[in-house]
Amino acid sequence: MAITVRICDLMRHEGQDVEIRGWVHGLRTGGKIAFLLVRDGTGVCQCVVEAARPDAFEAAVSAGHESSVRVTGRVRLDPRAPDGAELDTERVEVVQNVPDYPIARKEHGIDFLLRHRHLWIRSPRQCAILRIRDTVVRGIHDFFAAQGFVRIDTPILTPGAAEGAATLFPVDYFGEKIYLAQTGQLYLEAAAMALGRVYSFGPTFRAEKSKTRRHLTEFWMLEPEIAWAELPDLMDLAERLICDLVGRVLERHRAELELLERDVAALERVHPPFIRLTYTEAVDLLRGTDTRRRLEEELERERAELAAGQARHGELEAQMATVKKGWAQDRLAREIAALRERLAHMGQELENRPAHIEAASRFQWGDDLGGDEETILARLFDRPVMVTRYPRAVKAFYMKPAPDDRRVVLNVDVLAPEGYGEIIGGSQREDDLEALRARMAEEGLDPAPYEWYLDLRRYGTVPHGGFGLGLERFLAWMCGLRHIREAIPFPRLMGRIYP
Ligand code: 4AD
Ligand code: MG
Repeated sequence: MAITVRICDLMRHEGQDVEIRGWVHGLRTGGKIAFLLVRDGTGVCQCVVEAARPDAFEAAVSAGHESSVRVTGRVRLDPRAPDGAELDTERVEVVQNVPDYPIARKEHGIDFLLRHRHLWIRSPRQCAILRIRDTVVRGIHDFFAAQGFVRIDTPILTPGAAEGAATLFPVDYFGEKIYLAQTGQLYLEAAAMALGRVYSFGPTFRAEKSKTRRHLTEFWMLEPEIAWAELPDLMDLAERLICDLVGRVLERHRAELELLERDVAALERVHPPFIRLTYTEAVDLLRGTDTRRRLEEELERERAELAAGQARHGELEAQMATVKKGWAQDRLAREIAALRERLAHMGQELENRPAHIEAASRFQWGDDLGGDEETILARLFDRPVMVTRYPRAVKAFYMKPAPDDRRVVLNVDVLAPEGYGEIIGGSQREDDLEALRARMAEEGLDPAPYEWYLDLRRYGTVPHGGFGLGLERFLAWMCGLRHIREAIPFPRLMGRIYP
């Protein structure tokens, strides 16, 4: 009896007869031999089937893409094989033959792919992203456990807003109108007064009515909250956390990053100290003539890159006319499609860029830093940028004003490089009862549902603070994704709730 082995473990079974179970990932035939590629979620194995075994051969060549199969054979190590080992196949059992898998090897539009997300996640690219996501989530828990933080699960059904009424999702709670949580922060503040250092990691909901590449309506947020902490402590923690997580991804996922065509060198540059700027300094930078010159030079460089890419696209199209049908042609077609998509995005981005550069140069102190300004700021540096002390008026009611300048708050936003924008938002919290009440009044918030929160300022208040890291934003940056929707298994976006 052949033992059942996962493909990632095949290397340890050289010369043995084994069975693998998985899905057909590809097939190539050359007369008397067939090469059946089987994936099982842990890897891809090339099963070599000779026509001299007619049953196995017939089964292999008749199984369509994503058919479920059991394959038995003898393991042979081969450095050219996708995961280092091949199978000299004896038997192929087709559990279910799939003649018509909807996701073909050719191109599909994004709308089609999103409607078939339940199948799309089987593709190597999506599997790579999901594996990296798993590593980052485990990394988060390891990191905080090692520093003595206690994990707290905060409620999803909540009575009020914490991050602005505009993005609340209402829920009918036995006739009472309540909301899905926008953040666990207020509850974490209570828990920090109980346990000192706490964190939560869970789904968060925002009714984002705009379609951007950075917003989901359901996303996962990591939120640490620390008693007796001030803004610099929070910034140090955020810096250490990001470096730790980037390090884990680089250490474990070289193959996945390569498959995603991620520029690994850009991630290797992520180490302390990050750039630290106040909002006021950021405004000066945005408006500076020097910045404008640098951005315009960069724009010229990228326009030249676009032109080179377009030339390359033309060459590949010409090649396409000369290659024979089959795998080589499929591969070329995929390469052309990927290049075309990249060029289309680049073209669009470059078209918008002059307007962004113009808007940045006219930015006024007091405006909120939006996605475009964040992108421009992050473009000026090759490491994450931490922007502190935003105007009080553009930030949440719970943020503590700076004692030396009441116009600004003790907050920090961390901007990822390469145009990924804000990945972390956090602050020191207002810990004084009267000051907090005044801020709530300023924002027009009814204090009644927040009485419990105000209690934290009545019974043993201390300086404290925390931040939130958006998991999908972080992953989009790690994986070099153009849009956040690929960073979560089943994205929830405005106008999209299926599957
Ligand atoms: O800056 P935000 O709104 O901060 C808070 O919610 C605080 N209560 C966190 C805290 O201090 N405990 O959100 C934090 C992060 C953002 O930096 C971003 O990475 C992510 O959450 N985020 C989103 N990610 C995806 N889709 C959205 N709609 C997001 N909104 C925020
Ligand atoms: Mg924010």
